[in-house]
Amino acid sequence: MTEEKLTELLKSMTRKEKIGQMIQLDGGCFKQNPSEENVTGPLERLGLSKETVQLCGSVLNVMGAEQVVKIQKEYMQKSRLKIPLLFMADIIYGYKTVFPIPLGMGATWNPELVCDAYRMIAAESAADGDMVTFSPPADLIRDARWGRCLEMASEDPFLLSKFSAAMVKGLQNDGKPGKSVASCVKHFAGYSAVQAGREYNTVDMSERNLRQNFFPAYKAAVDAGCELVMTSFNTIDGVPATGNQWLLKKVLREEWGFQGVVITDYAAINELMTHGVAENEYEAAHLAINATVDIDMRTACYGNQLESLIQNGEISDEQIDQACMRILQLKNKLGLFENPYYGCMIKKETLTQSAFQEAALARIVANRSCVLLKNNNVLPIKNHPKIALIGPYADSKDITGLWAVFADREKTVTLRQAMEEHFGKENISCDKGCDFLYDYESLGDFGNIKVSELSAMTEVERKQQEQKALENAQRADIIVMALGEHILQSGEAGSRTDITLPRPQKELLKKIHALGKKTVVVLFNGRPLALKDIEPYCDAILEAWFPGTEGGHSICDILSGDYNPSGRLAVSFPYDVGQEPLFYSQFSTGRPASKNVDRFTSRYIDCPNEAMYPFGFGLSYHSCAYSAPVISQKNMMPDEELTVQVDIQNISDCEGTETVQMYLRDKVGSVVRPILELKDFRQISLKPGEKQTVIFKISEEMLRFYRQDMTWGSEAGTFEVLTGPNSHELQKSEFQLCKK
Ligand code: NOJ
Repeated sequence: MTEEKLTELLKSMTRKEKIGQMIQLDGGCFKQNPSEENVTGPLERLGLSKETVQLCGSVLNVMGAEQVVKIQKEYMQKSRLKIPLLFMADIIYGYKTVFPIPLGMGATWNPELVCDAYRMIAAESAADGDMVTFSPPADLIRDARWGRCLEMASEDPFLLSKFSAAMVKGLQNDGKPGKSVASCVKHFAGYSAVQAGREYNTVDMSERNLRQNFFPAYKAAVDAGCELVMTSFNTIDGVPATGNQWLLKKVLREEWGFQGVVITDYAAINELMTHGVAENEYEAAHLAINATVDIDMRTACYGNQLESLIQNGEISDEQIDQACMRILQLKNKLGLFENPYYGCMIKKETLTQSAFQEAALARIVANRSCVLLKNNNVLPIKNHPKIALIGPYADSKDITGLWAVFADREKTVTLRQAMEEHFGKENISCDKGCDFLYDYESLGDFGNIKVSELSAMTEVERKQQEQKALENAQRADIIVMALGEHILQSGEAGSRTDITLPRPQKELLKKIHALGKKTVVVLFNGRPLALKDIEPYCDAILEAWFPGTEGGHSICDILSGDYNPSGRLAVSFPYDVGQEPLFYSQFSTGRPASKNVDRFTSRYIDCPNEAMYPFGFGLSYHSCAYSAPVISQKNMMPDEELTVQVDIQNISDCEGTETVQMYLRDKVGSVVRPILELKDFRQISLKPGEKQTVIFKISEEMLRFYRQDMTWGSEAGTFEVLTGPNSHELQKSEFQLCKK
């Protein structure tokens, strides 16, 4: 439809119809024909009339081509102006084929690969009815206590931005009809900085921190062309994001030029009341519309209040027109006026074909996301020894993690299946050995996962399981323990104060260790864990996150040496929860900790300041030697570009992938600068003995920051360039930025 036609359409709409476009309801309101059932179901709970539902413009989390076609058909028949519904869903890291959680994808340090993954995710979900997905989550990881670390790729603004842009590009796939979905970046803004890591808690930080560290990844998504932005639940300087004019109008729309649709997070307009900035729905709707929020996700605020707000002269028809037009434009971009069923018409044969490619890619991404944290000469497992596979994740399909709500469990390959395939069934014994947790009650239900259905093992079962596992372990040559957080322990509303492995699993590991056999721990979790208390009880640790549909195969590829691990942490792993919020790019403080014990320095008396496994870290089966960085010139004028050269040599007899990292430190600034900032990285593959030179460039633009007066720019002075395989093992050189 042309823009003129769209404008005509808008003109022909009644005010009620326009407001209807600004309401999003969930499937419950549509699944049945408008019937009596509806009136006593979700509609009544929301307090919306049947008429409003009939005018509503988008649907939340209904998937399945048949269902989508049915709802759309019925809706279109009744729609006066034939404006199709927009179907939106949470396809966070995979639809039926599930890829590793974003935290794992971050560990690939490979945004191009992740872009390919999201292209496939888009095609698979569009073919089953999705048109918009609430992804990428682009909240900067700051605190491992926060459960939603699972959904984010990194603690580093630069790396996170690379991934958020890649995800948008993959999902939107140049708008290929039926093979792309519109992307919605979230949660704008600063959602991950909740105080004490407690979900939905207050966020309070300086504007400098927000702009310097938190904004870049959302901005990268906007610059990559994402069509929607979702507001976050938290406050920004005392004002909840959903009613925050500074954030949405000034920063997002005016400064960044975002012209797309702003949607709230789930019921966030209502929460303006519980936050205590609105007395009632009328005031809440008023705050949100004034902040240019276009779509109200699942509340009655817009549906019941916008008209009165106009009638009372509090807001203008123009505000409604603008919001409605943005939504119509999105529908038009997706081609819905021509084909309201979007990707649902893709032929079944094409889908089966691409399912194979998806699985293959999911395996590659999962291979690259696993991070080898420890290896005491035990991996890879050579030949075909007797292996005791033990632990609650040994044969579990939950390795797709919490947010893969549409995962095809049939297709999910467990570690047991993969190890039996690879090492031979006769060589593998498999036991749970223990329960995930002693107590499931405090976890709370999540969608279809009901805590009441998660029965903890009885005392007798526990003893039997443990006994069997110990016996099998005793008979084995090597033990592989598949341990981790229960899926409900991370993800949304999965904040924890204890970020170690659950107790029953630690207890079992210690008993297994006492047998004196080589023991490998494979971890499944959705956050950085504190591993100090399990590290001494095993010979190797492989961090597998929640690796997705092909997780079993991918892990087995690494255990067997078919894949040489290349994952590098994109987050810091602490020794102890007390170090949180922990991230590598800290300030040095006025009293930096020194190697000698000096009481009056910034340190803990009972724990190192640094991470146990630092940002950028990961082991491989090969090893490399890095040269110190060589800078092309010692002085740099602002219009010049420096080169930094690093030689890397594979000093082993095994081919492998290295992620060469370059950090900078601005030694003196008008405001305090971080001790390290990642500025570039390069992934290279090296044959045994091979030497390669990586050349990085440094431009003045890379040296900019929010200066004391809040202007964005660089300052003359000394900069350190630090290069190496991770944020701890770095070699440095220096240069001066001169001003003309
Ligand atoms: C709440 C979550 O915060 C958000 O990430 C998600 O997209 C919405 N619910 C919709 O399901």
